[in-house]
Amino acid sequence: VIMLLAALVVTDCAAAYTERRWFFSRESLSDYEAVRSVSTESEIECSAAASSDSAVQLVTFNASSGLCAHFRCRLGLSHCRKCRNANKGAQRVWTAGSDCWTTVQHRVSGSVDFYRNWTQYQSEFGEGPDGNYWIGLNSLHELTRSKSRKVRFLITDWDNLETWAEYSSFSVGPESGKYRLNVSGFSTGSAKVGDSFSDGNGMQFSTKDADNDISGYSCAQEYSGAWWFAACFLAHPNGQYKNFSEAIGGPYAQGIMWIHFYDVHYSLKEFEMMVL
Ligand SMILES: *[C@@H]1O[C@H](CO)[C@@H](O)[C@H](O)[C@H]1NC(C)=O
Ligand SMILES: *[C@@H]1O[C@H](CO)[C@@H](O)[C@H](O)[C@H]1NC(C)=O
Ligand SMILES: *[C@@H]1O[C@H](CO)[C@@H](O)[C@H](O)[C@H]1NC(C)=O
Ligand SMILES: *[C@@H]1O[C@H](CO)[C@@H](O)[C@H](O)[C@H]1NC(C)=O
Repeated sequence: VIMLLAALVVTDCAAAYTERRWFFSRESLSDYEAVRSVSTESEIECSAAASSDSAVQLVTFNASSGLCAHFRCRLGLSHCRKCRNANKGAQRVWTAGSDCWTTVQHRVSGSVDFYRNWTQYQSEFGEGPDGNYWIGLNSLHELTRSKSRKVRFLITDWDNLETWAEYSSFSVGPESGKYRLNVSGFSTGSAKVGDSFSDGNGMQFSTKDADNDISGYSCAQEYSGAWWFAACFLAHPNGQYKNFSEAIGGPYAQGIMWIHFYDVHYSLKEFEMMVL
């Protein structure tokens, strides 16, 4: 059941009305941070109070205490609702909008082997989107077939610093073209994170048994993974997972890589690729 509240707010420009719709959910709050708490009479008043602040993406209202809490996305993100976190929270919340990011790739530990063959990369594998996960090339093509999407990479390093990189246009071609990548429109919230994905633009996907890269050898075999390799990569999120003791200072470009900024001897702690 989707309940819906519409709050109308008169903006500074007298003739214009800004409408924000609030959707009922039981969201995990892990992607949000609190902005303020105010006392209100009702849920409607609580979300109406949030509508004047465009940074607020989630509100909670406690009917017994009358406490209305406003939350914004962490990491300076304008939209952070993940499909995998929807309806997993303990409390009732309202979110600004009903759309959410679909997790298509996720690394959190070494418990799933990502050094797999072509057939395996075509389909979903792993522990589901909360754990180590690959959605499959056929699904990536389906998701981006009718129109290009946004893609976002969430990067967590061993200091638990989180950063992100985003591309405004992302699509994956059909199997007949070996799932060719089309990506553009880089942005990031962090000065230290550079564009490590666009070098794969126009490339076909490669696995250990399907060498479609433009180098003289198999990038997938050399770096034990699979990606839209050129010759070879600036990012390799499907590389081998390294525990902390081996993650830093290891062999050249082995691991879960985002080379701008982390360079070639740093394997990341967590990595998530999402599509909106
Ligand atoms: C709502 O407020 C009551 C009374 O202050 C408190 O006992 C309860 O834990 C609150 N519920 C939530 C979900 O915060
Ligand atoms: C891919 O790997 C799976 C699992 O090991 C195996 O069953 C399958 O035969 C392999 N496919 C090819 C084409 O090698
Ligand atoms: C790549 O995507 C853009 C944006 O959707 C589109 O205009 C362009 O035609 C695509 N390029 C190729 C080679 O498919
Ligand atoms: C990495 O750490 C996990 C959890 O501590 C452990 O189970 C696993 O054996 C370690 N893997 C390697 C290769 O050291």
